[in-house]
This record gives sequence, structure tokens and C-alpha cells, in this order.
Amino acid sequence: MLVWEEDLKPAEKATANTATGPAANAGANATPQGSTPHVAAPAESSATAAERRVKAADKRIINGQTDVNQLVPFKYKWAWEKYLATCANHWMPQEVNMSRDIALWKDPNGLTEDERRIIKRNLGFFVTADSLAANNIVLGTYRHITAPECRQFLLRQAFEEAIHTHAYQYIVESLGLDESEIFNAYNEVKSIRDKDEFLIPFIEAIMDPNFHTGTVATDQTLLKSLIVFACLMEGLFFYVGFTQILAMGRQNKMTGAAEQYQYILRDESMHCNFGIDLINQIKLENPQLWTAEFKAEIKALFMRAVELEYAYAEDTMPRGVLGLNASMFKGYLRYIANRRATQIGLEELFPNEENPFPWMSEMIDLKKERNFFETRVIEYQSGGALSWD
Ligand SMILES: [Fe+2]
Ligand SMILES: [Fe+2]
Repeated sequence: MLVWEEDLKPAEKATANTATGPAANAGANATPQGSTPHVAAPAESSATAAERRVKAADKRIINGQTDVNQLVPFKYKWAWEKYLATCANHWMPQEVNMSRDIALWKDPNGLTEDERRIIKRNLGFFVTADSLAANNIVLGTYRHITAPECRQFLLRQAFEEAIHTHAYQYIVESLGLDESEIFNAYNEVKSIRDKDEFLIPFIEAIMDPNFHTGTVATDQTLLKSLIVFACLMEGLFFYVGFTQILAMGRQNKMTGAAEQYQYILRDESMHCNFGIDLINQIKLENPQLWTAEFKAEIKALFMRAVELEYAYAEDTMPRGVLGLNASMFKGYLRYIANRRATQIGLEELFPNEENPFPWMSEMIDLKKERNFFETRVIEYQSGGALSWD
């Protein structure tokens, strides 16, 4: 028989909320979320047991008191739907044929020095960027999110970050690039290092084992970290690199790499949209966090991120190349920053910026959830150890 909350006496309600139940898994001062599996007390009355059952209305994105191990009843259907959509988009780097890229790279007249610089700088950023993203999710964000349907998305997202790191490594290996040069670029190339140094404090803050949400200050720290990651890393710092390689692909150069980047762009735009939904839901549930001071701080971070990404554009493209030049990226980054700002409820930072690359929007917006590249091999199992001469 179902027992509703209204049918319980206050004493039973109080019992249902003691720290021995699922609530012990969550909350500011409790054990880190999800670390203690709930074991039901053997002599529990049916009324108490029913009260313990998770109700969708009680779920919260942060500081929730419901059992993080119970996926249903769903509350945040958008998170579950995004999880299903990302699974429908599954792909693996070895499915993409790299033989044309290899031939072009090896041909001394195949690419200009400026084009080669773009590819190396691009990979120099991305080979470590997605590891930072994965660490941020697995060691930081996941622990602080108390809605299991959102955690489910984060687990999928973490695996996708591993696939992206794999894809970049696969391109480096296919082209026979100097691995040490590319994988150390984030320590050695200033424009890349500066971007990572901007990000790392926001990862470290929430990875600290002593960090727990539950106060306005710590909840704001988490929210800031989520905004930096979704809006500024996945939503802004990836876009110069994506645009450059996809522009190459549009000119029939490095088409294998461009195909990999197209899959990654599709994944990242889903990560970014999920992050924005998460941020907006936290704002809705915790309006006290969204103060004028906090908004000003976020705006300043947006401005700094645009500067850093523009410096990266200039470094990767000292001259015009592929019909692109650094100053076009200034407009593009401002346009994207406006979009991210308005998506989380801030005003536009650079009013009236136009998108200089409307074709990028087409690539992002196309609903290519099945086999959107005709060249794609569908049988994942066959991709293990392909070699391209
Ligand atoms: Fe990624
Ligand atoms: Fe991502």
C-alpha cells in the first residue's frame, strides 16, 4: 500500500529524515555524495519505508537530500534526453579513414607552412584540453551534483572526453607528428598555456577533497566552475580550433581530421548545452546565488576568456590563411560570448556582433544523430588497429 507524506505522523517524518537513510549520501556536511551505499534497516515499518522512497519533487541539482543511487523517478527529463541523444551519437576515432590526410601531410607541397602551423597548434591545445575536461567532470563536478539523471549524463560526457583525447592522439599518430612537441605544447606554447592557466584554478577549487557545497560561497564556487567550463572552455576556447580545421575540410584538405573534429564539435555542443541547462536549473533552485556581484565577476571572466582565445587565434594565424584571419575571429568570439552570456541570463557583452562564419552554425545545428558522414564505418568492433601507409 502506498503511504503519502500527509498520512505520516510528524515523528515518522522526522525518522524518515534521519542521517541513516539515503539522505546521508548527500548534503553539505554529509559524506561525499554517493560514496556510501544505502542499506535499508531490516525492521523498518512500511510507513517509514514508503517515506524513504525518492520523490521527484524532492530532487535537487546541488545539495539534494535524495538517494543519488536512484535514477528514477525522473525529475530532470532534459538531462536524461540529452544522455540518450549522446549515446545515439556514439562514434570512435578509428572509424574515420585518415589515409588522404597522411598523403597530404607527407607531400612537401601538400600544405603551406601556415596550414601546418595551424594543425600543430590546434592539436597542441586539444591533446590535453579534453583530459582537463575529463578530470574536471570525474574528480570535480560529479561529486557535487546530487541529481542522478545529471550524473548519468556526466558519466557519458566523461567517456566522450576520453574519445576526444583518443581522436587527437589518433591524428597525431596517423600524421607521424612529433608526439613530445604536441603533447608538451600546453607547457611550452604561451597562447595555449595561458588558456589552461585560466581554467585550472576553477578545476582545482572543486577537486579539493575538503571542498563541499552547502553555503552561498561554496555554491557560488561550484556555479562559477560550471560556467567557466560549459560557457568558456567547451563553449568558447574550442571554437577557434574547430573553425580552423573545419575550414580546412571545407577546402578538401585534412578531411579525415575535419571529420573527427565534426564529431567532436557535435559532442561538445551537446556538453555545452547540458552545462547551460544545469547552470540555469541551479539558478532556478538557488536564486540567492545570482547576485549583482557574482554576475559582475562572471562578466569579467567572459571578457578575459575572449582575450585569451583571441591571443590564441593570433598565435595560430600570424597571417591570413584558408580565407580566414585573426581579426575575423575577434568578431566570432564576441558573437559566441554574447550567445553564451544570454544563454545563462546575462546581457550581451558586445552588442550587435554578427556571426562571420554562418557555416559553423549550420555544422553545429544540423541534427545529424545517425550516420551523418557517408564514409563512416558503422561496425565499431572493426576499428581496433587500422594502419594507414
Ligand atoms: Fe571533449
Ligand atoms: Fe566536452
